[in-house]
Amino acid sequence: MYRKQTCGELRIENAGQDVRLAGWVQRIRKMGGMTFLDLRDRFGITQIVFDQDTNPELCETANGLGREFVVQVDGKVRERSNKNPNLPTGDIEIEATGVRILNPSQVPPFTIEDNTDGGDDLRMKFRYLDLRRPMVRKNLELRHKMAFEIRRYLDANGFLEIETPILVKSTPEGARDFVVPSRMNPGEFYALPQSPQLFKQLLMVSGMDRYFQLAKCFRDEDLRADRQPEFTQVDCEMSFVEQEDVLRMFEGLVKHIFKYVKGIDFTEPFPRMTWKDAMEKYGSDKPDIRFGMEFKDLTDLAKGHGFSVADDAELVIGIVAPGCAAYTRKQIDALTDYVKRPQVGAKGLIWVKFDEDGSVKSSVNKFYSEDVLRAWGEKAGATKGDLLLVMTGDGNKVRKQMCELRLKLGDDLGLRDKNVFAPLWVIDFPLFEWDEETQRYYAMHHPFTSPNPEDIPLLHSDTGKVRATAYDVVVNGVELGGGSIRIHDAQLQDTMFELLGFTPEKAKEQFGFLMEAFQYGAPPHGGLALGFDRFVSMLAGLDSIRDTIAFPKNNSGRDVMNESPSPIDQAQLEELNLKLDLKNA
Ligand code: AMO
Repeated sequence: MYRKQTCGELRIENAGQDVRLAGWVQRIRKMGGMTFLDLRDRFGITQIVFDQDTNPELCETANGLGREFVVQVDGKVRERSNKNPNLPTGDIEIEATGVRILNPSQVPPFTIEDNTDGGDDLRMKFRYLDLRRPMVRKNLELRHKMAFEIRRYLDANGFLEIETPILVKSTPEGARDFVVPSRMNPGEFYALPQSPQLFKQLLMVSGMDRYFQLAKCFRDEDLRADRQPEFTQVDCEMSFVEQEDVLRMFEGLVKHIFKYVKGIDFTEPFPRMTWKDAMEKYGSDKPDIRFGMEFKDLTDLAKGHGFSVADDAELVIGIVAPGCAAYTRKQIDALTDYVKRPQVGAKGLIWVKFDEDGSVKSSVNKFYSEDVLRAWGEKAGATKGDLLLVMTGDGNKVRKQMCELRLKLGDDLGLRDKNVFAPLWVIDFPLFEWDEETQRYYAMHHPFTSPNPEDIPLLHSDTGKVRATAYDVVVNGVELGGGSIRIHDAQLQDTMFELLGFTPEKAKEQFGFLMEAFQYGAPPHGGLALGFDRFVSMLAGLDSIRDTIAFPKNNSGRDVMNESPSPIDQAQLEELNLKLDLKNA
């Protein structure tokens, strides 16, 4: 037997017991005639003691151990004289009677501790060592627990877990596809699924009624902290449902996870906000509602005073930074620089201070009387001691810029506590999004999303105004998941393709199998997918989803541990009938 106990389980009650542990050498230190070894496994750390006086030979072996050696230790549990209250096993130690090296180790390239000296790149290159660090391991334990609870909830609600193919047909709507050449079908390619969308709809046609899958999805898009090229969705679909049924089911799932994984009980229904309200109040379709600071429309009050920045703008909006009237010139300049960065792209920032002593100061005194500025303050809800920040520009463009400023202020003012969770549903998304560059409509969600039945008459006459039966679940400014009620009527689906600029031939070529399936009795259906990595990282309090994934990619889409992607040899290329042309790469 390699071990009889783990390194995390022995307590004072075990004193006097003979034990056998196995694990990694976390630390070894000599003190007087004693050698102390911290032995680590997944379950914890236990202190082992070797005594020069009672067993010099054994002590000698212990002194020869290095960090990360794999060893087996025999010994007796005893109470520690110098207890460590920070360690669950800190009341005891093991008086060693034997030690066996199971495997030596090279000196690790960084310390295997939460506060490691290893930089990002090094840790990723040696990810298997990085995963030995408790904080990274804990994230994977959390991920497991969440996956387990998701399955428990969905199983209890009659969902079947069904796997769908990884080699699929390329349908490049949305993000770019990763493609895979087919050796047996020269010149033809599979794609890796961006999501199992079409398959889960087909499973509804098959009568599976309720489907789910912890599905790997692949998208060749620019990467950010909350995006990986391969990621996992909790992908779900239900038959015979309306939007209300879907929201209720998955609000239940999100609440279940918070309750059983995090111990947080949401007793109230999640608030719901229309997409239009979210944009107007927060400048975002994923508003962080942990704090207020909603936008207030000051357009009417700001226009007509000879200030061209306002007069020429479509929209003038303001937000109140509570208690910030005492901000210095330097602090306000820093905010101005922030919004002027190319990533935000604002032209400038107007400020009005409502001082504690009742006076009003602003950057636009030249154009506006004190009375007018007070009217701004009143409309925006500013009181004494507050700072009003105002931006001007075009519709949703200036709203998005203001959103960046709001989130920055939220951070600066400590209003975005990671331990506070503020979920909501954003509903009534537009069905279409107009693209200036290509001068055509795109589906905001995907082409199978059903229009809001009330708006069907507008499909041709006022296409941009049509609302979708689509919804997102948002927590703390993060889009956790989204979905929609699907079109199950072949004729309506044809109209949708037509509006999206597909010729009937093109639609048939890409989605013919789905259209055909819809001829055979498709039930009304709808569903949603949660970003599993994002959900885990939120509950783990991480800023990036990377540390919730055992073997993630870096920002260039590379796995620096196994050095992929990598070239393949000529013979492999020939077998696939491929020739490379890297002239423009
Ligand atoms: P959508 O594209 O909104 O919907 O994706 C669902 C959720 O997946 C997460 N997500 C990602 N997570 C990590 N890295 C990425 N690159 C990434 N892209 C998306 C987000 C997002 O909310 N088939 C539809 C769902 C449906 O209609 O049922 C879909 O894929 O959290």
